[in-house]
Amino acid sequence: MSGAPDLVVFHARMVPCSESEIAMGKVHELQMIEDGALVVASGRIERIGKTEEVLAQTTLGPDTVLVDAEGRALVPGFVDPHTHALYHGRRIPEMQLRQEGKGYLEILDAGGGIQETVRQTAAVDDENLARETRRRIAETATYGTTTVEVKTGYGLTPEREMRLLRVLAQVRRHAPVEIYRTFLGLHAWPLGVENREDHLLAMDGMLADVKKRDLADAVDVFCEQGVFSPADTRRHLEAARAAGLAVRLHADELRPSDGAELAAELGALCADHLLAATDQGLNAMAENSVVAVNLPGTAFFLHEQALPAARQRAAGVVAALATDHNPGSSPTFSMPMTMALAMHRAGFTPAEALLAATRGAALALGLEGSRGQVAPGLRADFVLLDDPDYRVLMYSFGMNPVQAVYAAGRLVARSGRVTEEVQAWIDS
Ligand code: NIG
Ligand code: FE
Repeated sequence: MSGAPDLVVFHARMVPCSESEIAMGKVHELQMIEDGALVVASGRIERIGKTEEVLAQTTLGPDTVLVDAEGRALVPGFVDPHTHALYHGRRIPEMQLRQEGKGYLEILDAGGGIQETVRQTAAVDDENLARETRRRIAETATYGTTTVEVKTGYGLTPEREMRLLRVLAQVRRHAPVEIYRTFLGLHAWPLGVENREDHLLAMDGMLADVKKRDLADAVDVFCEQGVFSPADTRRHLEAARAAGLAVRLHADELRPSDGAELAAELGALCADHLLAATDQGLNAMAENSVVAVNLPGTAFFLHEQALPAARQRAAGVVAALATDHNPGSSPTFSMPMTMALAMHRAGFTPAEALLAATRGAALALGLEGSRGQVAPGLRADFVLLDDPDYRVLMYSFGMNPVQAVYAAGRLVARSGRVTEEVQAWIDS
């Protein structure tokens, strides 16, 4: 090894997101390095600072790639800590049914919704399912996402959920961005299965094997009135924890279900959705360091009020932002659109929204200190925007202000298109 860096990016308006305190309401302005530069070696950030100083301290090699950012904003790669990207088929007619007055849970109870995607996913072979999932993950990268959580949950029975975990393992091979795996076997009740206790025991019983075979990092449950109760959720997540897996939950998405309180009691990494969470629940989450994962795209698409930033500030909770990408309640891949919705529909400041899409999101995955910042020692995941002002992320809503995306120091997307290397991975 020559020791020379692989990449140097300079003349960037750098927003490292390295604030020491990231709870809601604590940060008003983000620190910025005007005319900043960063040095990448072996996929990691070696050094950051002012362009002049960094260039003076760095010995370039013949193969060092130099990128002049021409004054554009440089922010950490986004961490999307909640997606259901592993599925087949769209649900466009359901969108109109909801417009006509049918409820999300009503459609699910009638055998549609999640159950429709379960049927469609079962009907496609593993190769095609893996390919379309790779294509989706690559698309998230064109919007600046460099770490993405992907859940199972469109299998519902032990056998079908195992299949999804195997496909996810296949998708992760040679992935250009990091994929964090969550097992969501308790996403809905499997149609045709009658014995409640037997089914729940079978699902709990899978978890030790899932861990032993290293098929997932965390376990999630859709804890909601009429779906899985707090008691079902508690038992499953306790089994998950006993197996050595991290735990989290879909909590209080549409109706108050004591999900936030349960997340706090279990010491979950995060609780997600929270549209119907109580203030006591949010306070308990803050006290127990449970991250509040906001999914404003889902609130938008289901015509619900987003969780107000003001309530999260009052609780002092750490917020994260995620797309919740899925075919029923949030078909978007865009973290910039998610940040725009957080600002314009939930009252986040731009600083809070960017911190929630980077630091808060990393914390929600237990990856604080290794993702979500531009700092020496961290993986070189960063995004160049098409403007010097990072707030273009919340301004250009519905458009893509991301100019170039680097994951582990490699260019993965530019101007909305993935690189040839990433395309080869999609086609692999
Ligand atoms: O997070 N609420 C449960 N799960 C997903 C939606 C899944 C679907 O509708 O396919 C969510 O909104
Ligand atoms: Fe979800």
